[in-house]
Amino acid sequence: MATSFRLNGETVIYHGDPRTSLLNVLRDTYRLTGAKAVCEEGFCGACTVHVDGEAVPSCLRPVGLVADCSVTTIEGLAERDAPHALQAAFRKHDVVQCGMCFPGMVMSLSKLLEENPSPSREEVKRGMTGNMCRCTGYERIIDAVMSLQDNAEARP
Ligand code: FES
Ligand code: FES
Repeated sequence: MATSFRLNGETVIYHGDPRTSLLNVLRDTYRLTGAKAVCEEGFCGACTVHVDGEAVPSCLRPVGLVADCSVTTIEGLAERDAPHALQAAFRKHDVVQCGMCFPGMVMSLSKLLEENPSPSREEVKRGMTGNMCRCTGYERIIDAVMSLQDNAEARP
C-alpha cells in the first residue's frame, strides 16, 4: 500500500504497511536517524518530529496516518551549515552529553519558541515535559533556551 506525504519539504511515497510507525519508516526507509528509537512507547520524546506543525512522538504515529501531511525531522529543521538557534545554544551551553534526547528536545522546544518566542522558565519546563533526558541535563537545557531571550534576532 502506498502512503504519500511531505518529508522535509520533498514529496515521498512509502510503499509498505501503513501500520508501521513513522519512526521506523523515517529511520529504516529514509535513513533519517535523527529521531531516536528509545522507549518506542511514547514516554521519552526522543523520537519527536513535527507533523503538520505539531510536535509528536513518531513512534506512536502509524505512517498511514501521516498521508498527505507535512513531516519535518531534525534533519529538515535547519541547514547543515546554518543550525537552528536552539542547536547553537545547546552547543554553547554544553547541553549535549550522550545526545540521545537532543533531537527530540530540539523539535519540541523549537515548536514552543515558534508559538511563544519569550517563554518563562516554567513555560520552557512545561514545553519539555514530554522529553526525558537520562543524563539529567534539564537545567542546562533550560538555560540554553532562556539565553535566546537575549538574542532573539538570532532565531530563524
Ligand atoms: S521513542 Fe518515541 S517516545 Fe520514546
Ligand atoms: S544528553 Fe543524554 S539523554 Fe539527554
